[in-house]
Amino acid sequence: MRRGLYPGSFDPVTLGHLDIIHRASELVDELIIGVLKNSTKRNLFSTEERIDLLKRVTADLPNVRIISFDGLLVDCAVEYGTHTIIRGLRAVTDFEYELQLAQTNKRLRPDIDTVFLTTNVEYAYLSSSIVREIASYGGDISHFVPQCIMDDVYKKAKRGETV
Ligand code: COA
Repeated sequence: MRRGLYPGSFDPVTLGHLDIIHRASELVDELIIGVLKNSTKRNLFSTEERIDLLKRVTADLPNVRIISFDGLLVDCAVEYGTHTIIRGLRAVTDFEYELQLAQTNKRLRPDIDTVFLTTNVEYAYLSSSIVREIASYGGDISHFVPQCIMDDVYKKAKRGETV
């Protein structure tokens, strides 16, 4: 079985992430979405909440599984039996960071490769923090996040408490 691991903080999942998830799920037999638990970022949503949002927006994708992980990404890949890490590239500004990440991971685990999918131009400017900021002011986020999680994002962002 060909498995791919798509990691990130997903705080919250956006339409840009979802575009990558849809396309990646067609490239592998099983796509594992890895939600980073303890990032250095202050998160708006807890790990469980981020997993719940991801489960809801991927409910129509039978070969997608959501897990959370701590520690090194390559260790997570080994644990879940995949040699393929999938990352989205939005713009040239992502490239340097992503190259460093991919090359470091390759040095740590030569048997694991990183595959990049270019983000749909429609979402090239999008990030979770932009969504959080617009939602905190009550702005329209309907072009940025799936409709079924919009209310959750507004509720959390307006309270503004981070975890
Ligand atoms: N559409 C919209 N937004 C996107 C996107 C897309 N297709 N792809 C990325 N983004 C945004 C995210 O929303 C996020 O926005 P934010 O910073 O405003 O919250 C930003 O791009 C980057 O987030 P993400 O893709 O979640 O990456 P990350 O930098 O938070 O985490 C990991 C990347 C999880 C892969 C990395 O931190 C990691 O591997 N951690 C484990 C520790 C480890 O192994 N370290 C050694 C490796 S060098």
